[in-house]
Amino acid sequence: MARILVTRRLPGDAVDKLVATGHDVDDGAGGLTREALLSRIAGCDAVICQLSEQIDSAVLDAAGPQLQIVSNYAVGVNNIDLAACRERGIVVGHTPGVLTEATADLAWTLLLAAARWIVEGDRMVRSGTWSGWQPDQLLGADLVGARLAIIGPGRIGTSVARRSVGWRMDIVYVGRRSSPELESLGASRVTIDEAFATADVISLHVPLNDQTHHLVDAQLLATMKGGAILVNTARGAVVDEAALVDALNNGPIGAAGLDVYEEEPRVHPGLSACTNAVLAPHLGSATRQTRRKMAEIAVANVLGVFDGEGPLHSP
Ligand code: DGY
Repeated sequence: MARILVTRRLPGDAVDKLVATGHDVDDGAGGLTREALLSRIAGCDAVICQLSEQIDSAVLDAAGPQLQIVSNYAVGVNNIDLAACRERGIVVGHTPGVLTEATADLAWTLLLAAARWIVEGDRMVRSGTWSGWQPDQLLGADLVGARLAIIGPGRIGTSVARRSVGWRMDIVYVGRRSSPELESLGASRVTIDEAFATADVISLHVPLNDQTHHLVDAQLLATMKGGAILVNTARGAVVDEAALVDALNNGPIGAAGLDVYEEEPRVHPGLSACTNAVLAPHLGSATRQTRRKMAEIAVANVLGVFDGEGPLHSP
């Protein structure tokens, strides 16, 4: 019988099924503090953890030598010290694929809301400050025929681009390799400088690592087209948040739709004050169906390692 720590209750019945296999499962009961994580992981063979938990050397050491797998309930693994896991022979699992469409939908939700001032308009209606229809009220941007730049042409970026076909958008993308799938949609591969200088909408889909930390900095933001829109459903620290606040206040960027932040759940106070930013609380994968499927994969990753077959998905 193995000991498994699940740091936070997961949607669906995947963890119940794990319990039914006879393993000793500690089902986080609503989330663990760092101190509780360090103490409850001791002696565990597996941990199913969240993107908000730093799984670093201290946590791995606290777990002890029998820890076989760190199974992240997310596709992004920037919260895990992959090198430290590798050194200790610990497998890392994650949940790609099942959250692609939900996250692409959220990117479009943010884009449409940012392009058409939906949140600001909602505020106006609710507060009773709306004085009626006006020819120049909350004027947004047309998206049909606009240029969409996908930064990071992986699964989610490709799905965002696929949705843009209905808007007849001119798609460009930035990636290390060419993407036959995006090119079949008529997209062309460009440099990041060209993407930022020419796109009307820029959607970020790169993982967070040393190369992508603050990839979008003051310099790049300054090259954007007047009124262009930035959407970030990847990771907050891909964007220099302070520089983004400055650009949202002083241009050239017109609006931003953000689902992720540099220091979640803290949000840069300047961002909260920007009426041209739509701010979502990291909801990319937050549909009932997707979160259940993520739980199934996180559990399957653990059982795969116990069975000797390896995880379903490892980064
Ligand atoms: C992920 O999986 O990395 C998302 O950010 C949350 O589902």
